[in-house]
Amino acid sequence: MDLSVSESFSFILFGASGHLATLKLYPALYTLALKKRLPENFSIVGYARTAMDDDSFRKLVHDSILRDHGEVNEAKVKNFLEHVHYIQGQYESAEDFKRLAKALDEWERDPKAVRLAYLSIPPTVFTAVLKNLRAGGVHDGKHPFRCIIEKPVGHDSKSFAEIREELLSHFKDEEIYLLDHYLGKEAVRNIYYLRHANPILERMLKHTLIQHVEVTASEAAGIEGRAGYFEHTGTFRDMIQSHLLEMCALLTMQLIEEGESFRESRQRALEQLYLPSDAKPDDLILQGQYAKGVSAPGYTEEQGVSKTSRTNTFVAMKLFSHAQRWEGIPFYLRSGKRLTKKETRISIQFQMPKLSTPGGTPNRLDIILQGEAGMRLHLQTKLGGSTPQFRPLIMEDPLVCMGDCLPEHGLLLLEAIHGNHQWFLRFNEVRAAWILLDPLQEHLDGKKTPLHLYPAGSGGPKEADAWMKKDGRTWF
Ligand code: BG6
Repeated sequence: MDLSVSESFSFILFGASGHLATLKLYPALYTLALKKRLPENFSIVGYARTAMDDDSFRKLVHDSILRDHGEVNEAKVKNFLEHVHYIQGQYESAEDFKRLAKALDEWERDPKAVRLAYLSIPPTVFTAVLKNLRAGGVHDGKHPFRCIIEKPVGHDSKSFAEIREELLSHFKDEEIYLLDHYLGKEAVRNIYYLRHANPILERMLKHTLIQHVEVTASEAAGIEGRAGYFEHTGTFRDMIQSHLLEMCALLTMQLIEEGESFRESRQRALEQLYLPSDAKPDDLILQGQYAKGVSAPGYTEEQGVSKTSRTNTFVAMKLFSHAQRWEGIPFYLRSGKRLTKKETRISIQFQMPKLSTPGGTPNRLDIILQGEAGMRLHLQTKLGGSTPQFRPLIMEDPLVCMGDCLPEHGLLLLEAIHGNHQWFLRFNEVRAAWILLDPLQEHLDGKKTPLHLYPAGSGGPKEADAWMKKDGRTWF
């Protein structure tokens, strides 16, 4: 499918100077422009409370593009910035939204322009923005409309249900796009398509052959000035609730033809994830927080973080799937900030050979999605000599995107403009994830639940290794 956009659109960003916007969204939109994927007529509109005019907003967008792209062609950036506008307004003011709608009409000059409202705002103003999008006429029933919301949607199943109700009281289901940017990553989509296109791989992925699965998303970065968001979120909600569970879903979902049932299948895979009811919470989850390291401050020394904060920046957990081919296989998930390196990886450990293999280790398949992206199949081969001894044989190939590769937010935005929901979350997927994780979150919130400290820049808390050892395993 050609994902160039021919119809005009307006991309309205609420929270225009936030971390996500400057880190990901503006550079992604600029890449789309460079790759000639945008129509002639489009507008990028920042809306926020901060006093700014078009010029200062354009400077902010320019700087964010420069930071991401390194060198830029100034003439091309200038051209792009002509489509960029800023409206200063209050989130609670219907009048200010009317002003926004009027400005959109002028810039669009097209009654059929698609309007995308991207909400990157604190939960406190969420309701007001939804209400005013309609009251102010941005959502006017004439322009095709999309409301895009980033994960995590809510902070538990209860708050999620409230947000869902709120959203559905303003917009139709098909106007709502719940975005997990991992689902825009080619590498993450490839978890599913590697299975889809390689029947031998799919046949290997079966509980009769597998010992366990490890899913790791480690980051070298810290919270990058996002204390306001991270303090009440933590790694469990920030990374596990959506990104890592979605990766598990793509690995375990049933293969099917493209289309709406694709999302249903992904949803079913999420619903099939479970925590054994007889396990103690401490056997299922462990949390940590980075302390001062050699060259980085500890979490509680970060600006805006409480000195006594118990927010987790590292989580390791175990879950299972009821999907027939995965029944009984433990999935170990792990994610943390300020670890040694950036890497997102799925490792599948197969069973030991039935016959003795001195020096041998179990076969393993690594799918490395970020970091040194690649696929590695760990086999064994015989060493010379009359008695069989073995050494590892690793078959490896880089797994990099080739062809039409777009930044994740760019790809998802094009798909949203086209009205394609396939890689956006369904409400029921998000619900399933919260329902699975609520009891563990409650456990983590308990004052007596340990929070293991680890030095910034290390491999995480040593207790996470001991926790894994209790199951007779080690992290890869
Ligand atoms: C975001 C989280 O969703 O994903 C961040 O809020 C995290 O805390 C980021 O750093 C990681 O994304 P990526 O694309 O860098 O792997």
